[in-house]
Amino acid sequence: MSVVAVVLAAGKGTRMKSRLVKVLHPLCGRPMVQHVVNNLRLAGIERIIVVVGFQADKVREELGDSVEYAVQEEQLGTGHAVMQTRHLLENHTGPILITYGDAPLYRSETFAGLIKAHAAAGAGATLLSVILSNPTGYGRIIRDEKGRFLAVVEERDATRQQAAIREVNSGTYVFESSLLFAALDNLRPENAQQEYYLTDVPALMRQAGEKIHIFSDADPVETLGINNRLQLARAEKILRDRIREKWMLAGVTMIDPASVFIDAEVELEPDVVLYPSVFLEGRTRVGRGAVIGPFTRLVDVEVGENTVITQSTVWKSELEANCTIGPYTYIRPGCHLEEGVKIGDFTEVKNSRVGAYSKIPHLSYVGDSHVGRKVNVGAGTITCNYDGQKKHQTIIGDEAFIGSNSNLVAPVEVGPCAYVAAGSTITKKVPAGALGVARCRQTNIPDWNERKRAEDARGKRD
Ligand code: UD1
Ligand code: CA
Repeated sequence: MSVVAVVLAAGKGTRMKSRLVKVLHPLCGRPMVQHVVNNLRLAGIERIIVVVGFQADKVREELGDSVEYAVQEEQLGTGHAVMQTRHLLENHTGPILITYGDAPLYRSETFAGLIKAHAAAGAGATLLSVILSNPTGYGRIIRDEKGRFLAVVEERDATRQQAAIREVNSGTYVFESSLLFAALDNLRPENAQQEYYLTDVPALMRQAGEKIHIFSDADPVETLGINNRLQLARAEKILRDRIREKWMLAGVTMIDPASVFIDAEVELEPDVVLYPSVFLEGRTRVGRGAVIGPFTRLVDVEVGENTVITQSTVWKSELEANCTIGPYTYIRPGCHLEEGVKIGDFTEVKNSRVGAYSKIPHLSYVGDSHVGRKVNVGAGTITCNYDGQKKHQTIIGDEAFIGSNSNLVAPVEVGPCAYVAAGSTITKKVPAGALGVARCRQTNIPDWNERKRAEDARGKRD
């Protein structure tokens, strides 16, 4: 029987003290609620309904139409949130898995295990419980003397005795559809928060004679709910560890794993080597044998095989195989470096294509440019791409040679195999094979030093 999942994500998340809705806070570069949706999918659940409310548009934009939505206009509690899915689930018979958008650490295996346990128990509802050494903030599971489920009591409504219980409601459950909606009709907001608590549903079902099963086979770490920034940081650390483990087992070497930060969407091939203090963010992909770091940040970058990047920052660019980047290189969005390109120290490249085996080894700025193959760009070359209003393009042909400390005032072109003399300010096209010289001729004034000293000496005497 197919299982439908409902993810509650309508709350503001007051305890985050943020302008951004809680479930969109990123963890390893991916919004919290997206982790939940991905793991539900990996558990084999096809139909997922997300209950949205606070900043609903933003949540929809993030999750797109791979999921369905129900809207909870006013956030009157987790039970009230589930009530908003009724019209979507009218024709659904069978189990509904409910989980919260602020609990991103559940593994897909845990969801699958809970669904299986529910079916095996033949229960009306199955709750996932865990035992925590510090249960603060969670609903407590109350059992009778025989260990059977009685109720979930929220911390704010708990007696001191109940608050001492360390078995808590993880916030993930499976309910039989018809029983769920019948029980929701009987919910009353009679509690400290005056909310409709989903957590009251199992007790109502029990009172109606239904069997309630408790499944306690999860790692407590997975059930961490994120209510504040402290818990956000804890969850981030746990996810980062999982990501690092995954890639090391897939053949990536990390000299010091603890100092390597890899976002959830990143992909690495075997034999990649990551030095300490490396940040791989966004949709970065790194090819086999590439060596990254130390002290390097890549955001949305594609790195080809065997490319080496040292102490550099690269944004939204593609670097083909066998490139050498850094140390101290800044590559800004929109660059495409073909095979074997070398970009060296204190060089910034922006929105440019650099042809195979070209070199920009030191102290240069290359922006809005098209650089051909096997070009040598001398130290201190600047493309003057901005006239104060517009950006202009610089074109450098294959095998051209740009002498050191040149300014290329765009729009301008240096033809293939052309030379630019060192120290030139080039404002017009240098034709193919020509030498462009654009600087004053040198004049030497003989014996200048001697005469200057004599003048200085006279000055002192006067
Ligand atoms: C909830 C549980 C608690 C459990 C804990 C596990 C209830 C009443 N309590 O407490 O037993 O131990 O999670 O983490 O369910 N939401 C809505 N609409 C609302 C209210 C909340 O969609 O009207 C969503 C929130 O966006 C959030 C989730 O439901 O993602 C949980 O709400 P939250 O207020 O964080 O509940 P907790 O106090 O953590
Ligand atoms: Ca919570």
